Amino acid sequence: FTTKALTGKRVVITAGPTQENIDPVRYITNHSSGKMGFALAEAAVEEGAEVILISGPVSLATPDRVERINVVSAQDMLVACESVMPSDIFIAVAAVADFRPQVVAKQKLKKQPDNEQGLLLELVRNPDILATIAAREDRPFCVGFAAETENLLEYAEKKLKAKNLNLIVANDVSNPAIGFNSDDNMITLVDRELNTTRLALTSKAKIARRLMELITSYYLKETHH
Ligand code: C5P
Repeated sequence: FTTKALTGKRVVITAGPTQENIDPVRYITNHSSGKMGFALAEAAVEEGAEVILISGPVSLATPDRVERINVVSAQDMLVACESVMPSDIFIAVAAVADFRPQVVAKQKLKKQPDNEQGLLLELVRNPDILATIAAREDRPFCVGFAAETENLLEYAEKKLKAKNLNLIVANDVSNPAIGFNSDDNMITLVDRELNTTRLALTSKAKIARRLMELITSYYLKETHH
């Protein structure tokens, strides 16, 4: 009998996209299959953690022993995250929509003779879920993702500081072989001292397992276990 490293610890993971309604038939969203977040949830269970997966709309089965909360919008996702705090580790993998329509039309917006030129949609900023959780007094160990198409490490380091994270995972989404709907991924983990660990191209399941091991060892180090 061996006790796993995260036995008795709560890990909260966000995954998938959020959808922001425009009217009853239309919405704004981001590219995200949810695969990476779901793979990480599975890996966290393997480390012995109690895992809560807060997911936007995706077509993936819930991994065994994972508690899943389904949400649609960024605002819903934030409320769900706050409802399961405090936690020991928070991993934000979700591709949250940065903006939402200022008003959600009650009826389907119709094409009118006076909007032949187009339609102007007013958007407002969504809350930053990760930054909000990382600013709590009882903040968990916080891990973010930075999907970038250029200046990967530079932007990742900026986000690490701006959102007050413990770790950030940088991935280059300009490469069609990795990221988004792909089954493979290649990432670089960056810590607060800007040490980097590269995980080479492999399946999201393998990357998730290795990444969860790294997150766990950083977490245990920082909490003096
Ligand atoms: O700033 P950017 O959206 O690139 O940051 C990405 C990281 O922040 C991801 O970990 C993502 O899940 C998280 N995020 C969030 N809430 C937002 C925007 C991003 O939790 N509104």
